[in-house]
Amino acid sequence: MNTLHRLDGRLHLEGVALDTLAERFGTPLYVYSKAALESAYQAYAQAFAKTPHLICYAVKANSSLAILNLFARLGAGFDIVSGGELMRVLAAGGDPGKIVFSGVGKTADEMRAALKAGILCFNVESVSELHRLNRVAGEEGRVAPVSFRVNPDVDPKTHPYISTGLKENKFGVPIGDAPALYRLAAGLPHLKITGIDCHIGSQLTDLSPLADAAKRVLALVDTLSKEGITLHHIDLGGGVGIRYNDETPPDLEAYGQTLAALFAGRHEKLLLEPGRSLVGNAGLLLTRVEYLKPGEDKNFAIVDAAMNDLMRPALYEAYHGIVAVNQKKAAPQRYDIVGPICETGDFIGFARDLAIDEGDLLAILSAGAYGMSMASNYNSRPRAAEILIDRNEIHVIRERETQKGLMAGERLI
Ligand code: LLP
Repeated sequence: MNTLHRLDGRLHLEGVALDTLAERFGTPLYVYSKAALESAYQAYAQAFAKTPHLICYAVKANSSLAILNLFARLGAGFDIVSGGELMRVLAAGGDPGKIVFSGVGKTADEMRAALKAGILCFNVESVSELHRLNRVAGEEGRVAPVSFRVNPDVDPKTHPYISTGLKENKFGVPIGDAPALYRLAAGLPHLKITGIDCHIGSQLTDLSPLADAAKRVLALVDTLSKEGITLHHIDLGGGVGIRYNDETPPDLEAYGQTLAALFAGRHEKLLLEPGRSLVGNAGLLLTRVEYLKPGEDKNFAIVDAAMNDLMRPALYEAYHGIVAVNQKKAAPQRYDIVGPICETGDFIGFARDLAIDEGDLLAILSAGAYGMSMASNYNSRPRAAEILIDRNEIHVIRERETQKGLMAGERLI
């Protein structure tokens, strides 16, 4: 959904001009469109309508309470990876019975909190974790719902840092070991087997690895069923990519049809854990040009957003579109857009052609996913404020951090 548009040369998100937001709330500033978030969710609901399913939004993509609350109200479940994310989902009004808990390193305390909350299931990633969960559940006098995260050894053809479904990755249990592990789990007193899970990577632009992984997991479910191990759900993870530049992400409708064909006649419920594709293109990061610095070989535009605000370019050499908020008639010049942090890796984008002056505003696009949720305080920089736009309404969903606030909790010896 295109909620970002120009009116008389001024960039608007829904009904609000972005320059007015920068004036009122300062920069760097994360801005999201409620309509874009809703329409991304509805696109999933529609594409998978033929298959009984639950969309468990991957909280790590953007864990702001207002966004979690929005998805909760749309009926979403949640994929969490920490006690902190559990607390956020509960605070945002999420239904604990729709939470799946992923991650290779769940602590006993996190397990306890999730058991008390009554989550849908734990996606268990190792034998040691299985035994710990059984022990903790026993101590709590509860039965833990369990699903193994299997590693289907499929190449997702994405950036190596965000590919998770290969043998050499730390995630999940090898798919070949799964039958023995399910037998083991079936014999442990404080566990109840409920499902199976896989997640092969993120920002996937090709449907075939997702379909391959699904087929491998379904074959395993059939093997288990012959042994009398019945599952209630099959979780195929997240990973559907979005367009940052010129990618052609998998078509959700086609993915929905592929899975509808695979799930036809089956009794298990389909679970999905999308993150990026629900929030990525619903948000942008507003930043102001502090200095233009002409060089011999290249020109720099030094902006007030940095790698602490948006880590993706520095960490993955990720591409984000960058546009001037207010269009100018002047001829564009080529700039490297960089932040003020003392690292060469502190860049937002290279070789961008823009007609800008000092003091102008830029919008860094597709920043709704893994932007604010990965932001840090490096260089003692307070994290940005976040705004959610609903037509003409402006909601401050997170206040800008203060320099003083950053020191709270610190002590001299
Ligand atoms: N489920 C599990 C178990 C995951 O590990 C992830 C993402 C997801 C679901 C959601 O995947 P998505 O639909 O968002 O692709 N920081 C990186 C992305 C890391 C993804 C980690 N896991 C980035 O900025 O590109």
